[in-house]
Order: sequence, then C-alpha cells, then structure tokens
Amino acid sequence: MLHGPNLNLLGQREPGIYGSLSLAEINRQLEVEGKNLAIEISTMQSNHEGILVDAIHDALGKHQGILINAGAYTHTSVALRDAIAAVNLPTVEVHLSNIYRREEFRHHSYIAPIAIGQISGFGAQSYLLGLQALAYYLRTKCEDKV
Ligand code: DQA
Repeated sequence: MLHGPNLNLLGQREPGIYGSLSLAEINRQLEVEGKNLAIEISTMQSNHEGILVDAIHDALGKHQGILINAGAYTHTSVALRDAIAAVNLPTVEVHLSNIYRREEFRHHSYIAPIAIGQISGFGAQSYLLGLQALAYYLRTKCEDKV
C-alpha cells in the first residue's frame, strides 16, 4: 500500500472531503481486511515523488500487487506511472474522494490507464474495496494459470 503526498495529514486535512480517519486508522483497517483475505500488507507514505518511485521498484520480487493512492501525483506524475508500468505488478488505484466530481484538473489520472482498475469516492472504504479487488484479481488470475 503506497500513500502519496499530504495523506499523512488525513484526519485533519479538509475532513469534509477526506473524512476524519487518520492514516494510521486507515492502515489498521487495511491490516484487518488483509487478515480476512489472508493477505500480507506492507504500507508506506511519502510526500516525495522519487521515494514513491523507489518504493515501487522495491516492490518487485517482494510483493504481488500494488494498492496506491498517489494523491496529487495521480494527476501530475509520469514518473510514477512509468515506475508502475516498469515493474508490471497488478496495481489498483484508490481515492477517498470522487475525483470526477471535483475540479477539472483532478479528472485526469496518469495511473488509471496502466492500473487494473480504480476505486474513487468511497472515503476510507475505497482502500478496503481496492484491497478486495486486488486480492480477487490475484486469486482469479492464479486460478486461470492452473
Ligand atoms: C486524493 C485526490 C487527489 O486529487 C488529491 O490530490 C489527494 C487525495 C483522494 O484520495 O481523494 O491528495 O487522491
């Protein structure tokens, strides 16, 4: 689970848009959902594009998939998109807010075209839905191979 810029301030940052849960609380919910799904999750947050790029590279050989809320980098970062495309790990993009109901500049995602899917607009639930979708994708894809 990769959390992008400003998401360390969740709970205090524009709660009318992003809700009242802190990042630690969201990570705890992901842990619980991960246990239900028998999935091991590692989480990290960074405000720095290059650190997120490094984390994506580091996922190769360690993790089977990526869940990402890239925050504002969603709308700006060719580097994050290229990193995800380079490691070629199944990636689900999530957003707390519905980015399509907001300002025009949030309507475009550089990540969406290389993600397996996107979940946007369900608050903290977006993360859990995203994790379920990734787990489902990984399991059914593996079954297809047998
Ligand atoms: C966000 C939406 C982005 O547009 C914004 O820059 C964020 C959070 C969301 O989760 O709704 O930082 O990714």
